[in-house]
Amino acid sequence: MKNLLSFLLLLVVFSCSTETAVTKKKTNTIFFTEANPITLGCYYYPEQWPEEEWDRDLKNLSSLGFEFTHFGEFAWALLEPEEGKFNFEWLDKAIDLAAKNHLKVILCTPSAAPPVWLAQKYPEILMQNEDGKTMQHGSRQQGSWSSKIYRKYIQKIVNELAKRYGNDQRIWGWQLDNEPSHYGFPYDYNAAAQEAFVYWLNTKYQNIDSLNMRWRNNFWSQRYNDFSQIRIPNAKELVQPANPHALLDFQEFTNQQRGAFLREQANTLRQTISSTQFITTNYMMQMPHTDPWVNKEDLDFASYTNYPVNSYSEVENGELGFRLGSGRDLALTHDFYQSVNGLTGIMELQPGQVNWGHYNAQPLPGAVRMWAWHTFALGAKFICTYRYRQPLSGNEQYHQGIMQTDGVTISRGGNEYVQTIKEMNAIKKLYKADTAPQKKVAIWWDQRSLLDMCNFPHNKNWSAVNELYRYYESIKSFALPVDFINTPPDPKLYPVLLIPSIQLVNDAMITQWKNYVNAGGTLIITPRSGQKNRDGHLWKMKNQEKIKELIGASVLFNDHLPAAKKAQVKMQNNIYEWNSWCEIIDLEKDSASVKILATYADQFYKGKAACISNFIGKGKVIYIGLSSVSGDIEKEILKDIFINSNLKITELPKYIYQEKRGNLTIAVNYSSNDFELKIPEGSTIVLGEQNLKPGEVTIWMN
Ligand code: GAL
Repeated sequence: MKNLLSFLLLLVVFSCSTETAVTKKKTNTIFFTEANPITLGCYYYPEQWPEEEWDRDLKNLSSLGFEFTHFGEFAWALLEPEEGKFNFEWLDKAIDLAAKNHLKVILCTPSAAPPVWLAQKYPEILMQNEDGKTMQHGSRQQGSWSSKIYRKYIQKIVNELAKRYGNDQRIWGWQLDNEPSHYGFPYDYNAAAQEAFVYWLNTKYQNIDSLNMRWRNNFWSQRYNDFSQIRIPNAKELVQPANPHALLDFQEFTNQQRGAFLREQANTLRQTISSTQFITTNYMMQMPHTDPWVNKEDLDFASYTNYPVNSYSEVENGELGFRLGSGRDLALTHDFYQSVNGLTGIMELQPGQVNWGHYNAQPLPGAVRMWAWHTFALGAKFICTYRYRQPLSGNEQYHQGIMQTDGVTISRGGNEYVQTIKEMNAIKKLYKADTAPQKKVAIWWDQRSLLDMCNFPHNKNWSAVNELYRYYESIKSFALPVDFINTPPDPKLYPVLLIPSIQLVNDAMITQWKNYVNAGGTLIITPRSGQKNRDGHLWKMKNQEKIKELIGASVLFNDHLPAAKKAQVKMQNNIYEWNSWCEIIDLEKDSASVKILATYADQFYKGKAACISNFIGKGKVIYIGLSSVSGDIEKEILKDIFINSNLKITELPKYIYQEKRGNLTIAVNYSSNDFELKIPEGSTIVLGEQNLKPGEVTIWMN
């Protein structure tokens, strides 16, 4: 009997390591209620502090108003100090203390920091960078997503954790791994990745002739006779750029490896854990290298991390920009991850100065609080700040926490949290959720297309990702909510759908877009869309002819200028400038449905159309054939579209963001100047002032 049971158990374990979600995830609304719109928590690392301080720390953490804590994502070496010898006593004790201090716990799978014994026994679990260097033990995230051995050992520890804590009511939910991204270099070139890539290609193309055909391997004599001859395309070992189709496949493969790596962990947990515990991961924003939709079915929701003041992002918002960070980036990250499963929260939000920037500026007083309120405004169900105590040693010594280095004095950022928690608790009492969904603007998300364009921008001064961020910023400047989608939306909920330079298309996508317009939607298509097929080949037809019926015209050719030169385009007697990208649009003579919105004002194509609109069925398509220098012409066109689509807009100056959540409207100021808010009559200000200062928050209710 015992043997039969073990056999059945083995079958379950075996089947759960396959690559499809084995247990349906739960509806994510069971983890959060509308009655409690936000809950705040904070990271704590019991294993990094003397045991006698845990109770004091967790008690203080709780007394500041935090409602949950976060344990264990880097603790594998403490949980399994030797192969197969598990030690959970310390974690049991930390969970007991968290519970005693009324804190829920998010528990993590520790795959981001494998123990040294594993790497020593199986060096093949280590990833390799593009220079052929093997990453060694001594930091973190050195494990290869493609290594079957690494993944097998992860399943073991995850299974042990699930058995011990999967039905423990004190555990709120699970985070898989930590920022599954490999940080600066998302691509792995080790033998396991090489083998898995070839296997993936074999599955995709079935035979080598088909791969040769679709990678167009007659070009530069790149033909293969057999799959085993294929190497991962690696710029560091090539004289000239890699085959673009091979590169694109490798990037997509990598994203799916991450997906499979997370899915296996989720599946293992789901075998055991209670239906009241959620599963998520804390994605890092690495546009466009991460496609979280790959794990849509595996996670109850996707969460994300955000560090607004970090010296890496481009901040143009004046004098104070470097202390306030980018509100656009915070909002886009939120909307992107919320779109995956309709719900999200921020798993790591900066509490103060960090340690890993080129330089590490102090956030402006108030900024930490503003980020938290902005996150609330966008719809987050939880905010978790990183981290409780500033480390005294190790890699993040200079990273501020909620407590200062003595462990008991609240930091500047910590005090802002205390204030924010009090304010949020007060405002929760006034909050009423929306009874009907808000109408939103949809942005089409297509990782493959964006990757291809990042690989081959055709003009180094033009970036598909920057364009996406620019359009997003323009939409937000009208205070409109945004979702990212990859299936056609209902025009009643999403009256406007933006196709942001989606170059790689197929017939199905075009039909979906056409159906959306026929049903009454307004489709905005931006330059380069439709130029190639999904393999990344130009169509064997005239430039962008594939979308000719949709846009109602032909794109004759594109043009770019030297960086220092600008050319002009005219719309309704106003002149705008462009530099990096323009397309010359040619209308059919008898195309009554097509209207010219803007024309070029100089160059040898003066007078030719630059932006047009085309009426189809109950809706219309706008084609914007250029990227302007300041984004102003695009914004004018968007404004017109939003007004005509009956979307309620509020025009905001740059770096001011305003969101509506239920009966509350929340405005935040990332600019360097005061801004006098336009608050509708009959509203009551419940926090802040009408004159919104940099780094400040104002909330009104109606
Ligand atoms: C995050 C990471 C954390 C911690 C933090 C420091 O990117 O997930 O583990 O290193 O940065 O700011």
